[in-house]
Amino acid sequence: AQNERESLFIALNFAKDHFVDNLWNSDEGKNIGLTYFKERGFSEETMRTFDLGYALDQWQGLIDASNKKGYNEAYLEKAGLKIVKEDKSYDRFRGRVTFPIHNISGKVIAFGARTLKSQEKGPKYINSPETDLYTKSKILYGIFQAKNEIRNLANCYLVEGYTDVISLYQAGIKNVVASSGTSLTEDQIKLIKRYTDNVTVLFDGDKAGIKASMRGIDMMLTGGLNVKAVRFPDGEDPDSYSRQIGGEAFKAYLNKNSLDFISFKTDLYISGTVDPIKRAESIREVVHSISLIPDPIKRTVYLQQSSSQLGIEESTLLTELNKLLLNES
Ligand code: UTP
Ligand code: MN
Ligand code: MN
Ligand code: MN
Ligand code: MN
Repeated sequence: AQNERESLFIALNFAKDHFVDNLWNSDEGKNIGLTYFKERGFSEETMRTFDLGYALDQWQGLIDASNKKGYNEAYLEKAGLKIVKEDKSYDRFRGRVTFPIHNISGKVIAFGARTLKSQEKGPKYINSPETDLYTKSKILYGIFQAKNEIRNLANCYLVEGYTDVISLYQAGIKNVVASSGTSLTEDQIKLIKRYTDNVTVLFDGDKAGIKASMRGIDMMLTGGLNVKAVRFPDGEDPDSYSRQIGGEAFKAYLNKNSLDFISFKTDLYISGTVDPIKRAESIREVVHSISLIPDPIKRTVYLQQSSSQLGIEESTLLTELNKLLLNES
């Protein structure tokens, strides 16, 4: 089994090198892939740091290259790189730019691959399937590049997408990882906790992003993390917004707009809401989030804070909190 895992790592590393080579050295890769990344503002250094590449628009570009090397094709399939359907086999990633997903020690375990055609039907990103090496729910994109900085700065920025990680890293914000568009899992929270207890959520400024922030915040509170969040203008994500206003202004924006989870939720639910029923619902939602915090001292501190912020007697909030705690235990 150890040999088998090693063979999968070799296949994935070969694919990474092959895609990187396509990007920098093939005409198609240079004309299409490199041009695309440059238009997105990625520097050569950034592309190298993240091992960005390009999969040629061919059915068997990778398969042929791998065969030429004398590798066993079976491992391409087990690594999620080759699709076998009936009696045909072909490359999973074709005509797309590639984003390798590294494990914490820097080995490639999977890929995301983005289409370059903006009008194309079908998915914008194709990702590797789960394999013996890759369990989606256990990894965060960018963790290998970010882990030291997360520990040094004692904070982790959590974004949705591959390109959010890359843009922020290039802007000098290197303590950043992505959930890759799926909802956060307990294992991913444990992974962050290996490096820090402090997370700042930077999800997209659209309905889906805000909804995912709310859920993610509650999950992380349950996991014992200290959680902040930043809201972006509707339609912007950290990548687009940092490029729009520039790296330095973006850092200032983060510092100014990082709200602890109470202010973030209060802000979203309550600001502008005069409807008393809606206000009551949102207050209950804030108290619900507080009830998820495992540490009783932190719960008390946050309850005091929310009392002054919401303008509600602390004793009233405490009654509600205790009710929730009783129901949950
Ligand atoms: P987004 O739709 O926000 O894409 O999905 P993005 O990261 O901003 O990508 P660009 O800027 O258009 O290139 C966030 C993340 O969700 C996953 C990817 O990990 C993506 O980075 N996703 C999204 C998929 O896996 N498949 C998709 O079709 C779309
Ligand atoms: Mn989105
Ligand atoms: Mn984007
Ligand atoms: Mn996005
Ligand atoms: Mn909730």
